[in-house]
Amino acid sequence: MTTKLDLADIQGNILRGYRRDLVRHLILEVTDRAAARRFLAAAVDGGSSTVPEITRGVLWEVRPPFCFNIGITYAGLKALGTPPEHLKTFPTEFVQGMTQRAIKLGDFGDSGPENWPAPFDQPDRIHLIASVHSDVPEHLDAVEQQVAAAFNILGVRNGRNLPEGKVFFGYVDGISQPRFEQVYDPDQEGVDEPIDPLGTALLGYPTKQEGVLFRVPSPHALGFNGSFNAFRILAQDAAGFETYLDQAAEVLMRHPKRDQLADPDNLERIGEGLDMHGALREVVAAQMCGRWRNGVPYELSPNAQWPEHEVSLTNFDYSHGSRCPAGSHLRRGNPRGGPIVQRIANYTRRLVRRGMSYGPDFDPQNPDTEERGLLGSFIGANIGAQFEAVMCDWINLGLQDPRITGANDPLLGANTPETSWFDMTLPDGDTIRLSGFPRLIQTRGGAYTFLPSLTAIRYLSELTD
Ligand code: HEM
Repeated sequence: MTTKLDLADIQGNILRGYRRDLVRHLILEVTDRAAARRFLAAAVDGGSSTVPEITRGVLWEVRPPFCFNIGITYAGLKALGTPPEHLKTFPTEFVQGMTQRAIKLGDFGDSGPENWPAPFDQPDRIHLIASVHSDVPEHLDAVEQQVAAAFNILGVRNGRNLPEGKVFFGYVDGISQPRFEQVYDPDQEGVDEPIDPLGTALLGYPTKQEGVLFRVPSPHALGFNGSFNAFRILAQDAAGFETYLDQAAEVLMRHPKRDQLADPDNLERIGEGLDMHGALREVVAAQMCGRWRNGVPYELSPNAQWPEHEVSLTNFDYSHGSRCPAGSHLRRGNPRGGPIVQRIANYTRRLVRRGMSYGPDFDPQNPDTEERGLLGSFIGANIGAQFEAVMCDWINLGLQDPRITGANDPLLGANTPETSWFDMTLPDGDTIRLSGFPRLIQTRGGAYTFLPSLTAIRYLSELTD
């Protein structure tokens, strides 16, 4: 029997994205439990002149000026007074928190939690992450002031969409997302990927894996319709990325099969005004990601970033003969229906990805080393079986395909130049191995949060001591 979905009980930005220009994440500590509970009560009841309303998952008739949502850490549930018998029904990885799961996530060396800046150096004090999305900076300031009246703001992280939907490194992002049963998402018009069961992202519903129901924390009012978020601050070495593309293109220029990667008579299809070296840089970038920088899937257009005929951005699959490398970021993040070692895992680790860039613009002609990157939210019903499994098995070990096991994701992995490698594909079935990848993305903070339903926020606001 299908459980009917009540979108008004689910926080927004989980099953459908907001597509706003700006975000402000407020990292909060509960210092006055009563004030925090009063705030939550007002926020869930439609807001007031001093408290913003929680945005729900329903489709808007009128676009609100801003959207306001909360995630609560395990320390936060405790700080709000959740009784121990209910706390112990939450999953281990959430109870332990992101910093204790560092090894699984590749957070060591410079990415290690011991090197995270404040406030992420004190994870026990991080109780809530409140996120405000808007197109207008003044709304972010106004909501921040309201939140400050009830919580101690430990830190703030501001994000924005870069032009043309791109992220640093120059790729268009935000194309592939799961789409859910019972949810109409205008952004997913024309997508022909399999529909994901609600249990992929929400607690209390069937999952893709036969018979598997992720445990709903107790009481039902607290757990049902909730979700989990891995909030990550990921610094991107944009200058290092461009330098690596240069180095790889140098190597490929001398390779006897280089013309298979970039047809000398058709370089324009790879990019306007590119010479062979410039075209090879783009081919390396495209194979590393699984998409050309303009978003076109490598699988559907291995010879051209600008194909002669339009290709779908979303409807494709992988096979043993795929031109999209098994080690690419895209295939590691979601192998789709392709042949993988853990066959039963296809489509079970679908992650809802919400994110915006942070830091100053990057100009590849005038590279600098300012910190910039992605404020990413990776949402799913079970952090261990989904986000951590993707990070650990697929991104960092390449366990989905025996041909790449032991190599990390070239974009995202915990790489060292001495040990890293990545196999590029060629049309004749041969491969060219690139090596020397530096670690291009460093973790600079993060937290695992529970995204409670509206019923759960009310429940938390009504707790007594
Ligand atoms: C700064 C860090 C990251 C960058 C620059 C990045 C970049 C990208 C880009 C450009 C795409 C293609 C656009 C699209 O298909 O929507 C993509 C897709 C994807 N990424 Fe990342 N990503 C980052 C971090 C992560 C992390 C931490 C994960 C998860 C563990 C992840 C998982 C995925 C998944 C699942 C897809 C979609 C694959 C598909 O459904 O075909 N990414 N990423």
